[in-house]
Amino acid sequence: MEVIIQPDAESVARVAADVFTDYARRESATLGLATGSTPLAMYLELIRRHRDEGLSFARCRAFLLDEYVGLPRTHEQSYYRFIRDNFTSHIDIPDDDVHSPDGLADDPTAAGLAYDRAIAEAGGVDVQLLGIGTDGHIGFNEPGSSLRSRTRLKTLHPQTIADNARFFGDDESQVPHHVLTQGLGTISDAGHLLLLATGSGKADAVAATVEGPVSALCPASILQFHQHATVIVDEEAGSGLANADYYRYAFENKPAWQHI
Ligand code: GLP
Repeated sequence: MEVIIQPDAESVARVAADVFTDYARRESATLGLATGSTPLAMYLELIRRHRDEGLSFARCRAFLLDEYVGLPRTHEQSYYRFIRDNFTSHIDIPDDDVHSPDGLADDPTAAGLAYDRAIAEAGGVDVQLLGIGTDGHIGFNEPGSSLRSRTRLKTLHPQTIADNARFFGDDESQVPHHVLTQGLGTISDAGHLLLLATGSGKADAVAATVEGPVSALCPASILQFHQHATVIVDEEAGSGLANADYYRYAFENKPAWQHI
């Protein structure tokens, strides 16, 4: 795992955008996209590069991590809509190539299996962007999630409902209690995991992810098992890392040929 500590959220977004830019420039790439507020600055930077520097996503396709159950795609807080409003409608990725779990499916179990199949048929995800919940969840894999889980229905933790109420007029009763999320096994199948965290509220979750035991209690800790995992944090989110000096040293002394 590589841990990159940046001075602020803007630099986190820039370094993460550099990683995504490298993938977009490939012959073709399958991007794993995340919602939440953390990746927004990276999306804005990629939109700017598309507009000002001709960065094209025309040969990319994308899969979202998760979706609320019960929200139509037209709902402004559905993740389907969120990712279009905040990213994909501003770049040249074909709309039909942006996929999300079907939160309105009559049979969520079948919808989860179908989603995993679609990812596999696309050749797998090349780079999966991840945020992190204050309880260490990734996607919507709450503490206790099976480390090998596949895309499936989950019940949100009350803490996550409270955290996400800000997107629903601060009204927790409006936050759906169920979601379809890529499982920890599904996420682990991606070629490269790129986790971003900013702000002091994420410091404990980041420390548990990087330096704690691998445990279902901190679902993000599965990154420790991945052969290509990158964690990019700002100073605040990295403030709980005991080994921070070594991560800085390693990044500063990275061989020029070795990409993130
Ligand atoms: C939601 C999403 C996660 C995201 C998390 C943190 O629970 N399902 O993918 O990482 O929120 O969001 P934020 O970046 O807004 O803190």
